[in-house]
Amino acid sequence: MAKIINGKEVSASVREELKRETAELVEKYGVRPGLAVIIVGDDPASKVYVNNKEKGCAEVGYYSEVYRLPETTTQQELISLVKRLNDDDKIHGILCQLPLPKHLDENAVILAINPEKDVDAFHPVNVGRIMIGDYSFLPCTPAGVMKLIESTGVDISGKECVVIGRSNIVGKPQAMLLLHKNGTVTICHSRTKNLSEVTRRADILVVAIGKADFVTGDMVKDGAIVIDVGMNRRADGKLTGDVDFASVEPKASYITPVPGGVGPMTISMLLRNTMTAAKNTLK
Ligand code: GUN
Repeated sequence: MAKIINGKEVSASVREELKRETAELVEKYGVRPGLAVIIVGDDPASKVYVNNKEKGCAEVGYYSEVYRLPETTTQQELISLVKRLNDDDKIHGILCQLPLPKHLDENAVILAINPEKDVDAFHPVNVGRIMIGDYSFLPCTPAGVMKLIESTGVDISGKECVVIGRSNIVGKPQAMLLLHKNGTVTICHSRTKNLSEVTRRADILVVAIGKADFVTGDMVKDGAIVIDVGMNRRADGKLTGDVDFASVEPKASYITPVPGGVGPMTISMLLRNTMTAAKNTLK
């Protein structure tokens, strides 16, 4: 029987901390962390994420601006907005919600964001900083996963850590963060041979592939910590992760549920990065 890692609780404690830090920053320095969020077009999932980011800012006392731009927005208009926000002292963090409509160049937009305001940590400068272990901003989802692992009290050092998935947003930076904590890290992906042999070695298994209920109990070592980054919708409309909870839970020592595990952490980590960006301006 696994202990369930409660992402809502861990996330709420991060936000409580941020509320206190905001009040202190305002009182001592007259600085209120400010986040600008840009969304282009009408993708329903993106709209929900952006609304939640705006609510998160309000909850911890941040200043926020949300730019809801039409699908017809041009590359030049978007880049001009980013540049204007780069120069705006009220704004410490800038985030452009992805994916963008097809006619827009995501990489060019990411490159236009001042790396000191890149609270997604998507800019190559920040990706490089994460690689060498000298970073201010943590990529939000992997950072949330690290907080959840930390909440178990288990030390990552020397543990076999297996990450399934190699995306730039989750898998690759996740592997780096685990490595920085002295885990022995393996990244698995669609071409990995004998996947279950590798996953059965894992003391800590992080799954981020976007396939419903992909990891089953026979792929998991007894006593493993299992972190499910997946968020898939079943045909019946129910949300489910990349891990088959019913067969994995009896084997794991700790497991994250979906929903209520990694999901609630991501925006809290974005808010943490925005706080860091604001504090960095005082240095
Ligand atoms: N779309 C899905 N996840 C993310 C994220 O973490 N940041 C941004 N900007 N867009 C996303």
